[in-house]
Amino acid sequence: MASSKSKGRVSLDERFYLSADDFFPATAGLGLTYDDVSLATRYSEVLPRMTRLDSSLSDSLALSLPIVSSDMDTVTEHRMAIAMALNGGLGLLHYNMAEADQLAEVRRVKNHIHGMIGDPAVVSADDTIAQVLARIERDGLAFSTFPVTSSDGTLLGLLPGSTVKERHGQRKVVAVMIPRDKVFTVAEKDLGKDPIATADRKFSEHVGQNKLLVVDAKNKLRGLFTLSDIERISEESRAHVRPTRDVDFRLRVGVAISVPRTADGEIDRARLLAHVSALIDEGADALAISTAHGHTKGVGDALRMLRKAHKNITLIAGNVTSGEGVEFLASAGADTVKIGQGPGSICTTRIVAGVGIPQLTALYVASRAAAKKGVRILADGGITKSGDIVKALTLADAVILGGLLAGSREAPGKLMEINGKTYKEYRGMGSHEAMRKGSAARYGHSSSGKFSKVAAEGIEALKEVSGTVDQVLGTLAGGVQSGLGYLGAANLAEHRKRARYIRVTPAGQREAAPHDVIEIKAGS
Ligand code: XMP
Repeated sequence: MASSKSKGRVSLDERFYLSADDFFPATAGLGLTYDDVSLATRYSEVLPRMTRLDSSLSDSLALSLPIVSSDMDTVTEHRMAIAMALNGGLGLLHYNMAEADQLAEVRRVKNHIHGMIGDPAVVSADDTIAQVLARIERDGLAFSTFPVTSSDGTLLGLLPGSTVKERHGQRKVVAVMIPRDKVFTVAEKDLGKDPIATADRKFSEHVGQNKLLVVDAKNKLRGLFTLSDIERISEESRAHVRPTRDVDFRLRVGVAISVPRTADGEIDRARLLAHVSALIDEGADALAISTAHGHTKGVGDALRMLRKAHKNITLIAGNVTSGEGVEFLASAGADTVKIGQGPGSICTTRIVAGVGIPQLTALYVASRAAAKKGVRILADGGITKSGDIVKALTLADAVILGGLLAGSREAPGKLMEINGKTYKEYRGMGSHEAMRKGSAARYGHSSSGKFSKVAAEGIEALKEVSGTVDQVLGTLAGGVQSGLGYLGAANLAEHRKRARYIRVTPAGQREAAPHDVIEIKAGS
């Protein structure tokens, strides 16, 4: 503690801006969260763009962006998981779906070839051009070039957009299409480990081509690259985004699992292990046991079962907010422990059950227990801006986002327009609706029970649509890099060491946000 040093040798800064191990113990008994605290700036030679945000969830699961999308049914399905991994983070698929559907979701992420449209719109040789035009109109398609396939998916040719005109309406596709032997194609097996680079090279070698069709050994259509997509992606890769990939160059994905029970309330071991083995066979890279209360016998037993059956898979478990909880889950086999009880933007656990710890205090306690046990921690819930992530990463290895991602284009759910603004649904996994769909076990309730009698611990809400995941994560990562720059930290290990905290009063919180002006353009 600074105060234990001889007064003359302690600088003013050291007395006011305290390290985590001086600051948090001095506030013992008080629950602090992100807005209660600010970080002191430090001497810096680090420009934000020079900073690296690399982290990991286990010795075998590295991330170049320490952000994980929440395993909620209004946040993470395969589209979100793909976008998260492409940005260097990780998606955690939710479990409010049938086991077979969850396997299919994992398959979609693992089979995703960036830039390749896996199920392109096709036409059949017998269609008339008028029918194709009607389809473009009906489905609102923004393109008019189509692969031509037979009913079993065999590639027959390519219908060029230049022929899809009213004047040719009565002609059949077969009469105007480019025949198979003249179509620009690549064999799936020749895509290699870096399909983007292969497609990029092929487009350079063939001037004037802007669609590259992918076929398998039996000439069945497997996908399609467009020149404009490849050019955009190559541009992005020059922006140094490093996707989260496995050793086979496939995107990585995490999966939340619920722990099935037999009629007498015991863990259904056979069913749990069968589903987990199937997930791992599909290529799942991490499994998460997500419950509202992770410091329980049930979660401990399930973790031990999984760890015994699968020595090397990354196991995430939670949620807890105590040091004992972290140690318990670490001893049961978790690599990473989720920290957060009731901080989420749609959570009502603290109101309904009267429990939970404000997030920064919980993260401090958890981080010290985690260091003792050699495990990582995830800051789960309550993050509303990049500055919160900067603060969380002084104590946690990565953060989990729900609300900040729920309005993005890749989140599941339909768009709703209200008074000229577009929204997406965002609901707590402990809300009545989500529990009805299956997540009741997460909150210790039976999914066959009557939910009107069960206390919901989450609400159903709307999020304003916020653009693509690339845009949301780009803005957040930029903010986090600024934070590291202010602390003079080139990476997250230095960030943790250099963090100095101070408490903020309500007046200080008001000062931190725009004030005394009429805002005409939001700054985020
Ligand atoms: P944010 O703040 O990012 O929080 O929207 C997402 C996290 O909230 C947790 N979660 C819940 N907590 N009742 C709760 O008390 C709920 O219904 C609920 N649903 C999700 C979860 O940890 C998630 O990652």
